[in-house]
Amino acid sequence: MGKIKVGVIGAGSISEMHFDSYKHNQDVEIHAVCDINEERAKEKAEKYGAEKFFKSYHDLLADTEIDAVSICTWNNTHAEIAIAALHAGKHVLVEKPLCKTVEEALEIEKAVKNSGGKTLQVGFVRRFGTNTQVLKEFIDAGELGEIYYAKASCLRALGNPGGWFADKERSGGGPLIDLGVHVIDLCWYLMGKPKVKSVSGNAYSNLGNRSNVKNKSFYKAADYDPDTNTVEDMANAIIRFENGASLMVDVSFTLHVKKETMAVSVFGDKGGAEIEPELEIITERNNTILNATPQIDELSFDFVKGFQKEINHFVTCVKGEAETISPVEDGVEIMKMLAGVYESSETGKEIHFNK
Ligand SMILES: NC(=O)c1ccc[n+]([C@@H]2O[C@H](COP(=O)([O-])OP(=O)(O)OC[C@H]3O[C@@H](n4cnc5c(N)ncnc54)[C@H](O)[C@@H]3O)[C@@H](O)[C@H]2O)c1
Repeated sequence: MGKIKVGVIGAGSISEMHFDSYKHNQDVEIHAVCDINEERAKEKAEKYGAEKFFKSYHDLLADTEIDAVSICTWNNTHAEIAIAALHAGKHVLVEKPLCKTVEEALEIEKAVKNSGGKTLQVGFVRRFGTNTQVLKEFIDAGELGEIYYAKASCLRALGNPGGWFADKERSGGGPLIDLGVHVIDLCWYLMGKPKVKSVSGNAYSNLGNRSNVKNKSFYKAADYDPDTNTVEDMANAIIRFENGASLMVDVSFTLHVKKETMAVSVFGDKGGAEIEPELEIITERNNTILNATPQIDELSFDFVKGFQKEINHFVTCVKGEAETISPVEDGVEIMKMLAGVYESSETGKEIHFNK
């Protein structure tokens, strides 16, 4: 088999991680780039040596030489592009979140089932962090026992990126769908992917984007505009699973919080673990509580290595040598949780899912 020819759709910030990782994979040729901003597509094509660039994803998908695509566009376009790509016979790596709604997620799932065995991998990149992979081995070996509780916080005091991130129409929501998706998935994956039973959540829009704040910098989207913001500032939720386990989560773009927080933990009946800010395993031996720190290169999520491993895994799946560890069904289940939090917040009720 020759090199896998890849097209990258959406040539903004995160596409850099995809391009760099494909570039470092010797089984891949970056063949084409697409962006509605044609200049951006051209620039990335030149930078990464792609033969072609397009303004319309339809034109990229019509290129029969392309085997696989990365979708790195705004969230509101993920579903239509993923479905069109599968129809065109391409394998798909779609950035998180899978899409904006459960209905869209189910449509994508249907397209994967009808694709004659194409891979669709959801970009749950934190599954590929070394800290996650090491902990997963401990969990699979039974070291933590049955995991019945998980807790995740991803809190920014000031960090609404603006642009499309702050436009609910294009993003589907704020910190919950942007940051929450990562930490909810991380917990859920390590918990053994139990079926979601119910969700109770709250989303608040009390502070806005705090564009008045001085002397503190934060990441801004290219088209930042302080006057545009239709997404929540923060959200929290308790998610119950059919096996009795539960997950508590809170996330924010803006909040009166003393310190920016990234904390993810799972708790089992034999041991617990902190994944972020740094991997640590907590257990009990000889009637003593033991905190064990693995001797590994990165105890926290390493962005560059995480993306490289995500892309390498995708390429292996495209070559037919493995099944993706991040399939469409997982994207659907996570979408149910995210949509459930928003619905619960709007209705003031706990949302129950049918078996
Ligand atoms: N895995 C991660 O850690 C991570 C981090 C950041 C962003 N993301 C995800 O990646 C996606 C892109 O985010 P970003 O930060 O790169 O945004 P961005 O705004 O920097 O880039 C998005 C690009 O997509 C282009 N685009 C939009 N609609 C298009 C269409 N229909 N066809 C072609 N191009 C189109 C835009 O012109 C823009 O250049 C989002 O889904 C986001 O949630 C993931």
